Amino acid sequence: MADERVAIPQSFKDARITPERYRQMYERSIAEPAAFWREEARRLDWIKTPEKVSDVSFAKDDLHIRWFEDGVLNACHNCVDRHLETRGNKTALIWEGDNPAYHHAITYRQLHNHVCRFANELKAIGVKKGDRVTIYMPMILEAAYAMLACARIGAVHSVVFGGFSPDAIAGRIDDCKSDFVVTADQGVRGGKGIALKDNVDAAIERASHEVKAVLVVKHTGANVKFVAGRDHWHHELALEVDARCDPEPMAAEDPLFILYTSGSTGKPKGVLHTTGGYLLWAAMTHEYTFDHREEDVFWCTADVGWVTGHSYIVYGPLANGATSLMFEGVPTYPGPDRFWRVVAKHRVTTFYTAPTAIRALMRQGEEPVKKHDRSSLRLLGSVGEPINPEAWRWYHEVVGEGRCPVVDTWWQTETGGHLITPLPGAHELKPGAASFPMFGVRPALVDNGGKRLPETGEAEGNLVLLGSWPGQMRTVYGDHQRFYETYFSTYPGTYFTGDGARRDADGYWWITGRVDDVLNISGHRLGTAEVESALVAHPLVAEAAVVGFPHEVKGQGIYCYVTLNAGLEPTQETEAELKQQVRSEIGAIATPDIIHFTPSLPKTRSGKIMRRILRKIAEGRYDQLGDTSTLAEPEVVDSLVEGRKERL
Ligand code: WT7
Repeated sequence: MADERVAIPQSFKDARITPERYRQMYERSIAEPAAFWREEARRLDWIKTPEKVSDVSFAKDDLHIRWFEDGVLNACHNCVDRHLETRGNKTALIWEGDNPAYHHAITYRQLHNHVCRFANELKAIGVKKGDRVTIYMPMILEAAYAMLACARIGAVHSVVFGGFSPDAIAGRIDDCKSDFVVTADQGVRGGKGIALKDNVDAAIERASHEVKAVLVVKHTGANVKFVAGRDHWHHELALEVDARCDPEPMAAEDPLFILYTSGSTGKPKGVLHTTGGYLLWAAMTHEYTFDHREEDVFWCTADVGWVTGHSYIVYGPLANGATSLMFEGVPTYPGPDRFWRVVAKHRVTTFYTAPTAIRALMRQGEEPVKKHDRSSLRLLGSVGEPINPEAWRWYHEVVGEGRCPVVDTWWQTETGGHLITPLPGAHELKPGAASFPMFGVRPALVDNGGKRLPETGEAEGNLVLLGSWPGQMRTVYGDHQRFYETYFSTYPGTYFTGDGARRDADGYWWITGRVDDVLNISGHRLGTAEVESALVAHPLVAEAAVVGFPHEVKGQGIYCYVTLNAGLEPTQETEAELKQQVRSEIGAIATPDIIHFTPSLPKTRSGKIMRRILRKIAEGRYDQLGDTSTLAEPEVVDSLVEGRKERL
């Protein structure tokens, strides 16, 4: 059966990238990359225009990735100052509060003023070029000011998602030796306060690295502890500092930010992005993927604590002089119609969200959607995990009234921005397909033995990328060896994504999900090893193995097999305590869905846990357990299957 396809609507026939233009540009980006990228680089304002385009090697002894190396620019200038002349009075950011009565919009001129002051506040507390600044903020405009202020003075921000625990913040402060933290008294989500400043205090206490200064934004006015000499109120400092702050000239390869992300082993890695290539990629993909037009109101629902928020709330849209909406709340507060209410209220044209949100809202039926005017919408986007065709169709038909293309954008924290996505004016859509590579991107498939699969025709395997693109991460902060091991050692000469993919007969790419031990919970990335290490840190736990299993709303749920110390019987309290343990070590997003106590785990005779079997049991695919005769104690499997059935 031929796949269902959705044609390019009439309203996108005059899009920036038409089918013909896509073909020409893609071919040129591969055949003449230097010329292609030199032209694309013109979208940025350079203090010194780069002459060199790229210098890249994925080789073990010589791993380096450099783009526009001799160029000089400032990312904040590109996102703010350069628009003042032509867009000074245009809305740069719209803030929509958790409470629907609260909203606020600022122009590019106001943004400039806020960011310059914020930058001077950072200087006043001692921040210098190259210093790492940890940003632990709610979704308020000051989060964007803080990021841009860092970029303005050449400091490197490390945004930590506001849902992470004090332990998680402490680990990140220690890893990048961050002397400074920017936070708020409280965040608010779904009407409830989140004690951000308290979490920062606890994190600083636990961190081995000494934090010198904390800049605190007053958001809710909640009472917070203040440490004299260390803590500073933003609203007080703002009155003291100068309104003028010249942007620092930065080399294209100077670091812009670090963002921690989970992998299949060990602690989260600090993904490092640099200034020129990243900004170009964020701006270029924002323009092409979303067919950006001057009058658009762009709403990406992600949190700035994730890369999606970095690239598509802050850097991409602002570099393009767009109007970007930042939403503090959650999709279901005060009611399940909140998203659509906001769309109507601010006349959103481009809406970008995650499949998990779509699935959750789909369960609420069509009424909450249909009661709001969505005539302003022209384009919808999806990101974070594979979108199932049912959710895709609901998004397209119900939310978009069949009129708005849905761009399913595949990318990663490591890639800086979109790598595989349909372009709304260039490609017919197939529900669930990430579709085609962005300019300059060369996806390829390899089998488990490392053999490259043919470059055309139908194929399925592990997804790798041949060659580099400007938005690629440059290193794992402080651990270049780990950068090599994680991404370049599996299939030497290529970047391994950790995802599986299929290319169909029409050349469309379909992402099939992670092939490593990384979970995707509601579009949030989590390593099974991190959850395991949180579990075994509990004094009652002897051993733990964590796998994912299909979850109707979250995409994947967290399934934990736990062996307690000898002689201990599990109780409901133990289960609750273990869940709490994981929440407090990582954060609420890591809360286990199922804890399955077992006296032992299936292991090979050499003592290796057979995760493949545990995964199949968690998925309920008992018929696919394969050969279990090589296990040290094959009978464990039967008892685990029994235990799983009881939990279904
Ligand atoms: C992983 C990256 C990219 C920003 C948000 C997540 C999965 C992401 C898609 C998509 C299928 C997707 C992949 C990827 N993923 N987008 N459109 N279709 N899978 O960033 O936390 O770095 O996670 O998310 O598995 O490797 P991240």
